[in-house]
Amino acid sequence: TRSLAGLAALLQDLELEAIPEFPSADLLRQPIDIFHAYLADVLCQLVGCDPQKAYDAIQPANTTGNGDLDIVLPKLKLPGGPDLQDLAADLVKRFPSTHPLFAIPFKDGIHVRFFLSPKILPRVLLPYILDRGPSYGIPHTPPHPQPHSVNNNGNPNPSTPPPSPPPEPEPEPKKLLVEFSSPNLGQEFRTDHLRSTILGAFVANVHEAMGWQVVRVNYLGDWGKHIGLLGLGWMRYVGEEEGAAGGGGGGGGGGGGDAFRRVQEIYGRMEDEVKPHLAAKRRKAAAGGEGFDGEDEEEDGIFAERDRAFKRLEDGDGQAVELWEKLRHVSVDYYAGQYRRMGVTFDDYSGESLVCRNPEAVAKAEKLLREKGVSQLADDGSLVIDFSQHEAARWGQATLRAKDGLTTYFLRDVATVLDRLEDYSFDRLIYVVGEQDLHFRQVFKAVELLGRPDVAKRLHHLTFTRGPPQWGDEHILGDILDRCEEYVATAVAVAAADNPDQVPRTAPADLKTMAVNSLVVHELNTRNKAHTIGLDVEMLTATEGETGLGLQFAYVRLCHRIEQLQPRSEAAAGEGGSGGGAGAGADFASLWEAPWIELLRLLVRFPAVTTVAYKSLEPGPVLGYLFQVVEELGYCLEDVEEEEEEDAAEGSGAAAAAGSTRAARLLLFKGTRQVLENGMRLLNITPVGGS
Ligand code: ARG
Repeated sequence: TRSLAGLAALLQDLELEAIPEFPSADLLRQPIDIFHAYLADVLCQLVGCDPQKAYDAIQPANTTGNGDLDIVLPKLKLPGGPDLQDLAADLVKRFPSTHPLFAIPFKDGIHVRFFLSPKILPRVLLPYILDRGPSYGIPHTPPHPQPHSVNNNGNPNPSTPPPSPPPEPEPEPKKLLVEFSSPNLGQEFRTDHLRSTILGAFVANVHEAMGWQVVRVNYLGDWGKHIGLLGLGWMRYVGEEEGAAGGGGGGGGGGGGDAFRRVQEIYGRMEDEVKPHLAAKRRKAAAGGEGFDGEDEEEDGIFAERDRAFKRLEDGDGQAVELWEKLRHVSVDYYAGQYRRMGVTFDDYSGESLVCRNPEAVAKAEKLLREKGVSQLADDGSLVIDFSQHEAARWGQATLRAKDGLTTYFLRDVATVLDRLEDYSFDRLIYVVGEQDLHFRQVFKAVELLGRPDVAKRLHHLTFTRGPPQWGDEHILGDILDRCEEYVATAVAVAAADNPDQVPRTAPADLKTMAVNSLVVHELNTRNKAHTIGLDVEMLTATEGETGLGLQFAYVRLCHRIEQLQPRSEAAAGEGGSGGGAGAGADFASLWEAPWIELLRLLVRFPAVTTVAYKSLEPGPVLGYLFQVVEELGYCLEDVEEEEEEDAAEGSGAAAAAGSTRAARLLLFKGTRQVLENGMRLLNITPVGGS
């Protein structure tokens, strides 16, 4: 293809044959596979085995300390079971010492490890990355323009090829439904909702990157007994003051925020009212030597009142529904605005209410469960699934309908699966929800038992540690973001006073973006680490190290350096050289040593990192990788800065580094910037302060 054309010329220069063909080599996505293919070719000649076997026995090194490629000898499955230690030593000895692509290998037990030749790596990799641009490591880039891809498109120079089109017509993309964030109406926005938002955005992005069609769903907690409680409170406090129908939008013209706060406040009042009743019940149960079984036993009092209010809603009572719609609208409105601040969008805010407002959807799930003999009536009149009767005792028992006939969280989830299947016919449905592990196992099992094991297999619960309920002292998403902006603005102002060059030129809008970036990294760092961390201000605001601002500042420092290295003519032409003509006049020999070559060795790994992130649904590897790049980049930038200082001391005026060296560094820095941007984009981080 066109993109490998430049490469072919280079390989000819090196007197190498065309790239050996292997079906599993993904040459257009993974530059390491070019080296992999040549190595396999040599290997099969040296040991006389099948070429594909040789290819499969080679893998990218697990860490950069172990080289770049690794032959795992047992994987060759050689006949006669030769001594692998001997074989390793023998291979090292017989490997052609003048091979243009590899340095001399070394033996490590039953591994033979290879470093890519520093002489070749920059020449292959930098044009490769700059040609791929936003798709390097991210095979499927979403259609909206990315910061640095625009330059290529706007380039009037007809000799520069446009970014290459996708190789073949793609098969029908697979469809992912990812459900995340999902706060409850009236209740606070907890740390787990925040983490789910950030993790869910990543899961969606990484699937899009790999060519999936993605639907983002917010499953609002907009149905259930707590909604009964909220309605009760509204009637009691607002209904009296403003008339039952008056409340919703009437909370003040504050763009929905005031009305939303009003809803939260009312719910909070009701919760306070309920608390002592709950405590009393718990005490009673303990005194009677019985287990506490929730509050369902209550015949009258606040719980019964709440349940009656919810029942009116389930029965479709006009007034109850009207009020519910109003409260829901206020909340969705508010949340949509806050998610926008985070750069997160949802295609659908359907929520728990969806299946209940369409009685057929719930009825269908119940009918299937009944017909398959899965559900049963318990002694107290509630409808349950006893998993022990279905060879799944460890999933215990789950209630579909309470004895008063009200639907449960569990039933709504089961019915929603079927409903979504009809609406979206998804290939995969991922729930990004902190904890609730047993709940989801029960839901998935119920889907299987009602006759859809094929669908149950497509369901996946991405769980994580919840942390404390509250993020700092904040109860609602907008306040979390506000607080974050305050912290970050202060930290940036302090840093700017110390070191104006290293800090992004910040318009207020950029500060807001940086605050969100910091929050994203903070949450990715704290989740799974400790139960105790909600907000760690130090981690949120440190401008160095593995933090959002650390990443951001490194990016800015890099952009400044790129601007500075840019030849004037090229800068004036709108950075036209970042695409096709990469490499003209560059002296790559200046990149053969550390730290430069180490940075290159990291950049070549990026596509493998995104693959791991995709397969594991873990953003950790991407974040960790970005920090590795930033660290190595820091050494390179320091080198440049030191040179500059020496120059200044000698008073030579001009830069000491030759133009050809500067050109090579410029390419490396542009490649690095591209990798940082691509990685950040995957995490829903938008770097600011670039040129
Ligand atoms: N609203 C729930 C909560 O706040 C989370 C919803 C999780 N998703 C689901 N399909 N059950 O805990």
